[in-house]
Amino acid sequence: MRRRNVKHAHERILDASGLVILDPLSYKGKYQSLFGNTNPIHLEIGMGKGKFIIELARRNPNINYLGLEKYESVLIQACDKLKDENLPNLHFICFDANHLEDIFDEKEIDKLYLNFSDPWPKTRHAKRRLTSEMFLKKYQSIVKEDIEFKTDNKGLFEYSLISINNFKGVFLDLSVDLHSREEEIITTEYEDKFSQKGPIYFVKFKL
Ligand SMILES: C[S@@+](CC[C@H](N)C(=O)[O-])C[C@H]1O[C@@H](n2cnc3c(N)ncnc32)[C@H](O)[C@@H]1O
Repeated sequence: MRRRNVKHAHERILDASGLVILDPLSYKGKYQSLFGNTNPIHLEIGMGKGKFIIELARRNPNINYLGLEKYESVLIQACDKLKDENLPNLHFICFDANHLEDIFDEKEIDKLYLNFSDPWPKTRHAKRRLTSEMFLKKYQSIVKEDIEFKTDNKGLFEYSLISINNFKGVFLDLSVDLHSREEEIITTEYEDKFSQKGPIYFVKFKL
């Protein structure tokens, strides 16, 4: 995700405190109380500008959504999309997924989405890929049900399949051309851009 130097991103995030969880460490094990119900909680890691998770939240009021993004300058662009709209089933968190276990309790998340994660093409950076075995271990601890992963990057997709397989994950669904399916697909910002240029790869799995 290209990061623009968004002016006053930090101050603006503080202003969006109803939408953004400013102290996620204190919510570990308590997200249901934040939403005020016992509905399932779905998480997107690396949500970017938020198009995907905002649309899911609009369509599914009985599911609670959390969007996690590392950079304030990116997250604020998602907040801007909700200036005139209140979605009680959606909150954002500005946090690095490397420390997921600090903000989520065991099996606190029902479903996880990873969309167009950064490919980190150099081998020495492989651990940073959000589908590395190091991350799968974290997801195994916090995610109760399945994980969905979409990417336009063939190399990252192949790497992810091997990583999931090595981790003894169970494959539930897979496509090497998701957009050829005759079903409505809720897209992300990256997906809108890259589906013009080539296929979108998709895998759904359980750990
Ligand atoms: C390539 S962009 C894709 C954004 C969005 N999912 C989409 O499909 O349009 C990847 C996003 O993941 C975020 N990201 C990368 N590593 C992360 C991490 N460790 N924790 C949280 N977010 C991360 C980046 O800041 C960036 O916004």
